[in-house]
Amino acid sequence: MITARLTDDNKGIAAAADILKADGVVAIPTETVYGLAASAFSDKAIEKVFIAKGRPQDNPLIVHISDIGMISSAVSEFSPIAKTLADAFWPGPLTLVLKKSERIAESVSRGLDTVAVRMPSHKVAREVIKAAGIPLAAPSANISGSPSPTTADHVIADLDGRIDAVIMSGSSEVGVESTVVSLVTDPPRLLRPGRVTAEELMEYIPNLVIDKAVLSEPEKGEKVASPGMKYKHYSPKTEVLLISGSEEAFADFVNKQENCLAICFTEDEKSLTCDYLSYGAKTDGEAQAKSIFSLLRKADTLGKDKIYIHAPEKTGVSLAVYNRLIRAAAFRVIEL
Ligand code: TXA
Ligand code: MG
Repeated sequence: MITARLTDDNKGIAAAADILKADGVVAIPTETVYGLAASAFSDKAIEKVFIAKGRPQDNPLIVHISDIGMISSAVSEFSPIAKTLADAFWPGPLTLVLKKSERIAESVSRGLDTVAVRMPSHKVAREVIKAAGIPLAAPSANISGSPSPTTADHVIADLDGRIDAVIMSGSSEVGVESTVVSLVTDPPRLLRPGRVTAEELMEYIPNLVIDKAVLSEPEKGEKVASPGMKYKHYSPKTEVLLISGSEEAFADFVNKQENCLAICFTEDEKSLTCDYLSYGAKTDGEAQAKSIFSLLRKADTLGKDKIYIHAPEKTGVSLAVYNRLIRAAAFRVIEL
């Protein structure tokens, strides 16, 4: 298959919509990461997404809508609390898990009676959905397990020849995937942290609970609320370890290692004698989120034996970064 490169203007958007209406798969930019879009009404289109990504069969997809008028084609019930959160955070990087409508293809939710839905803020993403006239299921546009794509080049590196087209647009502003909140549980449950923080959500839903899987590895055989959280994920090919400790302890540790790369805070730079890439200031979760996936991909090109990452905080947007990195490290954290 030849993957067409489309422009992010009206012409490219119209071409993408035609492919999607004919059950094809197109990588599109969103404000979080690039997504691999397909018609959420078509089992045939959804199966192509799973094949292109090599995605585990039990991991459901997020459905994207362009405007609130589309919500009734995705969910069977839009509760008052869902409406409150949508009013506060849509369009934007928040996904809500709700009861699924009959119209959404069975293969989107992989047998669950719920569906995850969001309205992206990225203009091109919304215009593609609108032009196609159907809600679009879109997981991150990477090979399953590798770091999520924040540029069109990342998509091409993983999926060239495996998908119908990619819209060539700029780099994703947020850099990590959307926050996922389940509203089918009582109390509501944070399944995946993102740019919309737990603290921000609690202003509207003070009883929000943070799912155990956000920060720790599910036990073998344990049923997880969000199937995507149980897999090793976001990993470069080089081995990754997360290092938790002070600036001084981190520097002492990594400076002694051979042929390693440190991924550090900007504050660490001055103490390091080894090779490093910094991913933002310690308290700047937004900068960390924006750069981390790109740095993990870059790290793989440097021929190192190991990547040691200074662990981010577990608050604000940094919680989202921690959640991704602990998976990249297969849940191995060295506490100094
Ligand atoms: O920012 C994003 O959400 C990006 C862009 C492209 O919009 N998409 C994305 O999709 O991250 P994906 O497939 O990589 O992640 C979907 C996550 C998985 O953790 C999955 O388990 C969870 O959402 N999910 C989907 N449907 C669900 C459901 N019905 N119940 C619980 N979790 C669900
Ligand atoms: Mg993904």
